[in-house]
Amino acid sequence: MRTLLSEAELHAGVQQLASEIDNHYGPRPLTVIAIMTGSLVLFADLIRRLSMPQRVGVVQASSYRGGTTSGQLQVDAAMMIDVKGRDVLLVDDIFDTGKTLDRVSGMMLEHGATSVKTAVLLHKLTQHSVEMRPDFVAFEIADEFVVGYGLDYMDMYRNLPYLAVLSPAEIESTAAESEA
Ligand code: IMP
Ligand code: MG
Repeated sequence: MRTLLSEAELHAGVQQLASEIDNHYGPRPLTVIAIMTGSLVLFADLIRRLSMPQRVGVVQASSYRGGTTSGQLQVDAAMMIDVKGRDVLLVDDIFDTGKTLDRVSGMMLEHGATSVKTAVLLHKLTQHSVEMRPDFVAFEIADEFVVGYGLDYMDMYRNLPYLAVLSPAEIESTAAESEA
């Protein structure tokens, strides 16, 4: 595994992200929603660095069906909090094709949110399949498969405190292990 961003670099990036969000919203109350499960670690670090009064909620979205390529997107809003008349900030680990944040942003507007913006740890420089772009980005990265700091391969590696690139050989052995 090759480390792409160290724990210290990640924390500096999240601090910078929080400052940009603070500067944008000021003291206005914000409804901050985690797109689970990938944003789990980022979310915990980010909300504690934001200064405005916050309401916090989660939405479950999954598009990676056990692999490294984007599959069918499933969104489960059963645990979602009320967003009607609220300024909403969606937080996700990574903007890849963009389908997840595009879809969930639309859902928030359908549920009556006053405004919807998006914050991500990583913006993958790849072919996006939607027109929207994330509003707040901590790091731009190349089109490689990364794990750690919340990001997974087959639900493994989320607990790594740093971000690492998973090589094709490591992808294969993780897949073999999880089948064993
Ligand atoms: P999008 O809908 O294609 O933008 O995909 C976003 C979701 O795909 C993220 O929330 C991640 O869960 C997952 N994803 C995309 N790229 C990676 C990666 O390099 N490593 C781990 N998960 C990824
Ligand atoms: Mg995810």
